[in-house]
Amino acid sequence: MSAGYKKIKGLKTVSFTISWFLMIRPTFNMITTHFKCRGGLYPRSNIERFLVPDDKVTWSTEFKEYDPPYYTSPSLHGKPYADPEIGEPNFKPKWHSPNGNITRASYMGHPLNPIGYPLNPMGYPLNPIGRTGIKGRGVLGRWGPNHAADPVVTRWKRLENGEIAVDKNKKPILQFVAIKRGDTGEWALPGGMVDPGEKVSAAAIREFQEEALNSLVMSKDERKMYEEKFDKFFSGGDVIYQGYIDDRRNTDNAWMESVAYNFHDENGSTVGALKLHAGDDAVGVQWIDVTPALKLYASHKEILDVVLKKRL
Ligand code: BGC
Repeated sequence: MSAGYKKIKGLKTVSFTISWFLMIRPTFNMITTHFKCRGGLYPRSNIERFLVPDDKVTWSTEFKEYDPPYYTSPSLHGKPYADPEIGEPNFKPKWHSPNGNITRASYMGHPLNPIGYPLNPMGYPLNPIGRTGIKGRGVLGRWGPNHAADPVVTRWKRLENGEIAVDKNKKPILQFVAIKRGDTGEWALPGGMVDPGEKVSAAAIREFQEEALNSLVMSKDERKMYEEKFDKFFSGGDVIYQGYIDDRRNTDNAWMESVAYNFHDENGSTVGALKLHAGDDAVGVQWIDVTPALKLYASHKEILDVVLKKRL
């Protein structure tokens, strides 16, 4: 169980709150600190992050010298998915709640801190994990949480005779569909941003079809056929993780959160037997074995660790 869980369990609060909390919380480990969005150059810029040592990440730890640069990428200007600047008269976000089609609510809330992220005295949302060494939005469109969805499509690795392959500890080997990201060249889950008004689970399925099956170039009929064939499979996804993602684009005022769904093909006959084609932002796609040494984009390895635990 995560430090966040332990901390909450350790507090003396009404037992009703605790049991409610434990009942409805999925059993995933919440991400409690970040590494990938600290130190070095901010992606696609020459802006150097202010160095934040491990013991100075949380906002509650005093760090008087902290003086991060402010950076919002000029590429956001005029983009339909990007917020205006905070303080602009026509920008009146309701933090911590849905704003029409856009949700500014965070998955980092819990019964003892339902809103999930604070605002600083100037009215800017603050990263729920802590300091990142850079203020502003960077390349992220929204102030506060930027919501993504990740499909984790899995099957058991099989030998030519159809038997499940095992590792040196005689444990079955799980495989998942990974894409190679066009922006960083890293292997990752084939996820993406949730469109305004879109259901998060629908976004996860759409992203899988776009990035791993290249559905964007399919004819209408082909796409319909695929959708019908996989309708049942994709209606049975389990939420594996929802919360903060340690993404290199995160800043003190804007960050990535995601919901990851596991779609498991137990006998390998549905998507397990599919021909994969990289599409949209992906430049490669393949089934990859889940092993301890796996290195993936952002927090995707942590998400796969949860899937593996659940499946074994
Ligand atoms: C990716 C998702 C990822 C999220 C947070 C999105 O751009 O497509 O796979 O989980 O960022 O890193």
